[in-house]
Amino acid sequence: MGVCGGIAAYKAAELVRVLRKQDHEVRVVMTAAARQFVAPLTFQALSGHAVHGDLLDVEQEQAMSHIHLARWADLLLIAPATADMLAKIAHGLADDLLSTLYLAAECPVFVAPAMNQAMWGKVVTQENIARLQSHGVHCIGPAAGEQACGEQGLGRMVEPAEICRQVLKYEQPSLLAGVNIVISAGPTREPLDPVRYITNRSSGKMGYALAAEAVSAGANVTLVSGPVNLLAPAGAKLIPVETALQMYDAVIMHSRSADIYIGAAAVADYRPQTLAESKIKKDGETGSIVLTKNPDIIAAVARLQPKPLVVGFAAETDDLENYAKHKLQSKNLDLIAANWVGQAEGGFDSDRNALQVFWPGGQQILAMTDKRTLAVQLLNLITEKWHEKNPVKNS
Ligand code: C5P
Repeated sequence: MGVCGGIAAYKAAELVRVLRKQDHEVRVVMTAAARQFVAPLTFQALSGHAVHGDLLDVEQEQAMSHIHLARWADLLLIAPATADMLAKIAHGLADDLLSTLYLAAECPVFVAPAMNQAMWGKVVTQENIARLQSHGVHCIGPAAGEQACGEQGLGRMVEPAEICRQVLKYEQPSLLAGVNIVISAGPTREPLDPVRYITNRSSGKMGYALAAEAVSAGANVTLVSGPVNLLAPAGAKLIPVETALQMYDAVIMHSRSADIYIGAAAVADYRPQTLAESKIKKDGETGSIVLTKNPDIIAAVARLQPKPLVVGFAAETDDLENYAKHKLQSKNLDLIAANWVGQAEGGFDSDRNALQVFWPGGQQILAMTDKRTLAVQLLNLITEKWHEKNPVKNS
């Protein structure tokens, strides 16, 4: 494990602990800057091995040379990975032990970036990440949220337990290898005039988390997404749309060759009947908008022949079970994941959620947790259903 100099370095100590707890042997390389944040002794105590730091340290090189260290590792994880380290390794620079180790490594490499949101958003950082990914490096995160500098946005290191899960999953078989999955996510925008639209509070987090998990499970993922503030998971094909009608066209086109369709989008049920060509003026004390019904996208996918496995969502404020079961049947779905909205925790906009999943003849509760973990659990259920329906294709 490589640790770079950033405030998230203290979380890397927890990451070593979690990896050790899962019976993995960890050797730590710290950059000079990392040693300013956390003392090497912390990592030595947690990993049970002396920490490597200096490329030109004769004693360390005698104990285990950097080439030997690169051969010893089954996997190299750089967490936190700073913008500087990403830039270095993206361009083959090797002026310290960690960047040299990267260059010498033949094993799979994971990076968990952590930096200020503007640094992450900088074109050059994005180019470096894209370059590393094209070199086969796996990128975990970063996550969004409040930053140590007080700013908000993408750039936080993903939590240690989640990094551990993603890294260890790498060794697991790809349960959805070659399976074509279309996922719709986010809200739709229904324009009233050139400046106004009707929308809803969907953040797209659930759909994007499902897309990321499906990519990790080996699926070919097409993500049809309404406007959201999220980065598309690497490896998924993103089709950005705005209106329900655009989403309908994109979803139907891609679902004709899909094995699984997951309708996680919050599609507007209605759109304004007319679209004003110029901005509507505020004449009069009251105004009215005539709405017309949007097509039900998921029901249309369930009518396709051949029909993919169709998974829907139901966000309910009351009588969740009855509404969910009714939708399962009336829309001819194979699975429906229902959740409460308008409660203290979970639902739209939240990072956490709980689901009650129904299928013909069965149900399962997935307890309140973060949307990423929930996505894994739901995808496991979907994978199970898909394998039940396609025993031959999978044998
Ligand atoms: O009927 P309701 O909107 O509650 O159903 C929710 C499910 O139906 C979700 O999976 C959603 O993506 C899908 N849906 C759709 N097209 C619509 C409305 C909902 O695909 N016009």
